[in-house]
Amino acid sequence: MDIYLDNSATTKPYKEVIDKMVYALSTDYANPSSLHRKGIEVEKNIKNIRQSIARTLGAKDKEIYFTSGGTEANNAIIRGVANLHKKRKNHIISTVIEHPSVLNTLKDLEEDGFEVTYLPVDTTGKIDIEAFKQAIKPSTCLVSIMHVNNEVGSIQPIQEIGKYLKSLNDKVYLHIDAVQSYSKINFKPSRYNIDFMSVSGHKFHGPKGIGFMYIKENNRLKPILTGGGQEIGIRSGTENTPGIYGLGEAVSIINKDLNSTIDKINSLKNSLKDEIERNIDDIKINSPEDGVCHILNVSFRGVKGEVLLHYLEQKGIYVSTGSACSSKKKGSHVLNEMNLAPVEIEGAIRFSLSDLNTEEDIKSVIPVLVESVNDLRMIMKRR
Ligand SMILES: Cc1ncc(COP(=O)(O)O)c(C=O)c1O
Repeated sequence: MDIYLDNSATTKPYKEVIDKMVYALSTDYANPSSLHRKGIEVEKNIKNIRQSIARTLGAKDKEIYFTSGGTEANNAIIRGVANLHKKRKNHIISTVIEHPSVLNTLKDLEEDGFEVTYLPVDTTGKIDIEAFKQAIKPSTCLVSIMHVNNEVGSIQPIQEIGKYLKSLNDKVYLHIDAVQSYSKINFKPSRYNIDFMSVSGHKFHGPKGIGFMYIKENNRLKPILTGGGQEIGIRSGTENTPGIYGLGEAVSIINKDLNSTIDKINSLKNSLKDEIERNIDDIKINSPEDGVCHILNVSFRGVKGEVLLHYLEQKGIYVSTGSACSSKKKGSHVLNEMNLAPVEIEGAIRFSLSDLNTEEDIKSVIPVLVESVNDLRMIMKRR
């Protein structure tokens, strides 16, 4: 048995993605900036990929900029916007449950003299829209909020936030970390009044080390990478052609019938949730009812999440205790902020699904999970 339920950490690349990357490495290896035929061919292919990505978002080609992934996109946007407005406005609004690539960037900016308001979340992992409105000051230059939380799957009210920011007299930019929402929620940034957005390829069966930023036309930022002026000067460095080709393929496959794919994943998540609730007692579902389609976070009281993870791994089932980035540290900052009891934080497991999972996977996982939780609870009691 080999059942992979850790798709929020990363996904298995589609076979077509790997084929495209091999083609880029073996055939389309020329530098897209080169003036000869081979370079021009690669440049044309990258242009087409940019266009197809833009189309999935109802955006313009020139609003898409390739990066090395979500971490770089978050850094480039937050630092780039903050540093551009530094002299006039130095206040940023974010939340307490952001990914470390946002939280640590903000911490760094605080050391540089920026003021950051971290909005709290309720027990369902959501911010309060009124508290958000209250947090805005004349010195606010940027609001940076994750669309979907990577540990519990809570969805923030981005549309309401965007609408409110648009109604203000003074421009406040809106950045969305969409790493866990692109391809899981069908949305268009312009309808949400989003100014900047970060996306990562390896979360939807693309390669690792590639992603993109959406930057609304005419919005500016101060680039963090300077060099040869690639990506219209916003992100210098020779293009990661294999990554871009692979990303383009993943984007085109996942968007073929996105609404059905989302429904399928959501239905798998509901089956998993129902079966866990029916078969295992003394649990707590930490993901909100109206959360994203692919994340189910559950606390098994009386069990250590990390021990359960390794127990399941021995039986060929791969899950996570929280986010891959924070799992080596103590306790989840997200579950802490959601006010979970220590015993619930300790016993938390994140199941995260993709379109490559099946109902059969869920059927196979349940008996193993039931047995594992029972075994571990017995062992804990005997101690
Ligand atoms: C919400 C969120 N933001 C950012 C990232 C970082 O993306 P990348 O791994 O492409 O650097 C992740 C990855 O775990 C994430 O889940």
